[in-house]
Amino acid sequence: MGIFFDESRKLRTLDTADTSYQLRVDAHGFLRHLYYGASVGRSDMSYLYNDYDRGFSGNPYLPRYDRTLSLDTLPQEYTSFGVGDFRVGAISVVNGDGSYSADFRYVSHEILPGKYAIPGMPAVYDNGGEAETLIITVQDPVTLLTVRLYYGVFAGKNIITRAAEIINEGRQTAVLEKAASACLDVPFGSWDLIHFHGRHCMERQMERRPLLQTIQTVASTRGMSSHHHNPFVILCDHAANEDHGDCYGLMLMYSGSHKTEIEVDQFGSVRAVTGIHDAQFRWPLAPGERFFTPEVILTYSAGGLTALSHRYHDVIRRNVCRGMYKLARRPVLINNWEATYYDFDEEKLLSLARQAAELGIELFVLDDGWFGNRNDDNAGLGDWTANPEKLPHGLHALAEKINALGLRFGLWIEPEMVSEDSDLYRTHPDWAFSSPGRRPMKGRNQLVLDLSRADVREHIYAAISKLLRENNIAYIKWDMNRALSDIYSRALPPDRQGEASHRYVLGVYALLERLTAEFPHILFEGCAGGGGRFDAAMLYYTPQIWCSDDTDAMLRVKIHYGTSFGYPACVVGAHVSASPNHQTGRTTPLYTRSIVAMSGSFGYELDPGRLTAEERAAIQLQISDFKRYSPLILDGLYYRLSDPDAGQCYHAWQFVSQDKRESLVSLVVHSPQANSPLIHVRLKGLNPDMFYLIEGENRVCSGKALMRGGYSFPLLFGDYPAMQLHLKQTQAP
Ligand code: DGJ
Repeated sequence: MGIFFDESRKLRTLDTADTSYQLRVDAHGFLRHLYYGASVGRSDMSYLYNDYDRGFSGNPYLPRYDRTLSLDTLPQEYTSFGVGDFRVGAISVVNGDGSYSADFRYVSHEILPGKYAIPGMPAVYDNGGEAETLIITVQDPVTLLTVRLYYGVFAGKNIITRAAEIINEGRQTAVLEKAASACLDVPFGSWDLIHFHGRHCMERQMERRPLLQTIQTVASTRGMSSHHHNPFVILCDHAANEDHGDCYGLMLMYSGSHKTEIEVDQFGSVRAVTGIHDAQFRWPLAPGERFFTPEVILTYSAGGLTALSHRYHDVIRRNVCRGMYKLARRPVLINNWEATYYDFDEEKLLSLARQAAELGIELFVLDDGWFGNRNDDNAGLGDWTANPEKLPHGLHALAEKINALGLRFGLWIEPEMVSEDSDLYRTHPDWAFSSPGRRPMKGRNQLVLDLSRADVREHIYAAISKLLRENNIAYIKWDMNRALSDIYSRALPPDRQGEASHRYVLGVYALLERLTAEFPHILFEGCAGGGGRFDAAMLYYTPQIWCSDDTDAMLRVKIHYGTSFGYPACVVGAHVSASPNHQTGRTTPLYTRSIVAMSGSFGYELDPGRLTAEERAAIQLQISDFKRYSPLILDGLYYRLSDPDAGQCYHAWQFVSQDKRESLVSLVVHSPQANSPLIHVRLKGLNPDMFYLIEGENRVCSGKALMRGGYSFPLLFGDYPAMQLHLKQTQAP
């Protein structure tokens, strides 16, 4: 396993436990992509390709008279531009002389131990001895525009990361108009696209469709990875399912505007290009300057979608999330948002906290509304000092009182935004994005701070770090409640405004890096109106993200389903909220709500004062169950046991411990039926030769039986019933 270089055949093979990725430099210096798929050892895969003279797919000038070599049909690693490849490209550049051409040819390569890092941007990291790096340098011989292609090979994890560094080694400024992270050519096969679309309160809805013979795009221009299109796609064989078949995953580690284009070309060959969105992107590179793209995390699985998800879950848990919480159980929290919204004072908060403490809750989170003149969502953002009417004794005293109840204290902030009605805006109106001479779009009546600017970042850093230093804060919810528009930075000259959107994202990363490094004991939870910035890059800074503002258990379960394809359950913030639900008005049993929230980082978001004694007792039990099951939820292998598109009346999912000795199966019935057929599922991931005690039933079954014969749930009755099965390895009966 590892990176292999075959000098005689000019082959580079990236070998992981189960996959091979191969590329070759041809006689003319073109970097050809040969193969990505199930392991083929070091076989030379060039034999797969025969070059033919194809009409209207022209040929490079040299070698003369060879009409079979065409960039338009060649599988490539990172495309040239304007010189004959008419498919979706990885780069667009305007050269100093006004020409639009870049003809990249191989220059050199190097193989390094460990995993490369990307300056100023999050990237998958190596915990020691897990990865190797291949860097291939290609260059345009005329302009000397140079691209260093980075490959991080996590052989044991079947993960390959890619990124590009573009350097202007020429004498004139070149302007990048598109700079994708990677191009992946998949020359053979017939593929479905799986992507995760949505909207506020309904993120990451999985959709699977056969690829059309055209260009299909999954993208966000919102300056955030978005509720609408997650920066993660899967290409899978038409016949692939959870357990079988070829699948490729492309997960972009980026939180701003992004674009993944998938083209099926004239011969049925598939090309996927992913990276920063090129809308409003224009990056001048003066001689000597360089630009780094964000990273893309690739995997290939011959064993279906579950195996693909397991690879992403593992790499996100162990090689993306950082800090003391990365593999630790997060405290069970209560958040006051749906309990009080903006209508609270110290007394009310303490009463919530007191009751929460009695239930066994560990962390009290004070959400929006505690600062400035924030009595609704029209004012106050930017003024990060406690509202004296609501909190007359200040935040410090509140935190102390909450701590005295035995709870840790957490706080909501939205540092990237400013309200017009705030002292910050009154002092620095030019710190918000807006185009000259225009009134900017408002979202939730707020504006976006220009975090591309160091002075703005410095101010926000000072305000937030002061809060964190002066108060005993164990947790921060970092929210972001509108999309970016009117992106115009007063700190950049007119011809560099195309940098502002990406520089904003870099600014957010810089701020997060500084604060998380300075306050390593604090658990940061990401949030953007729920899951509007649920991406691998944010997980590098915040090891959990509030998954959705939709806390309706029946809809949440579908959001969790879509989210699970790329992201592990431990990073999913999930709360039990009140019933009837505030988003849908639906009534669901408390037990069902708890089972859904337990497939994430667990907490409550309701007023415990409105609970009956019976409900309070149930919650105490739920919390102790969650603590018992948390090793499984945190680090277990996750299996989807149902498919929302299959017409089933239920959702079911399962966690299995890494050593297969324990498992937790959850079932939620979303469409109860009269005289219902039995709900029968085949369990997954168990050891066929082990025996398992099904807790509560006093029954012992073999792994073989449960996986092959399955399990029939008892008939469940009532509105949205649910059930959890806890299995533990035991002796043979
Ligand atoms: C959006 C978040 O997703 C909610 O949980 C809550 O924190 C509100 N913002 C507060 O404004």
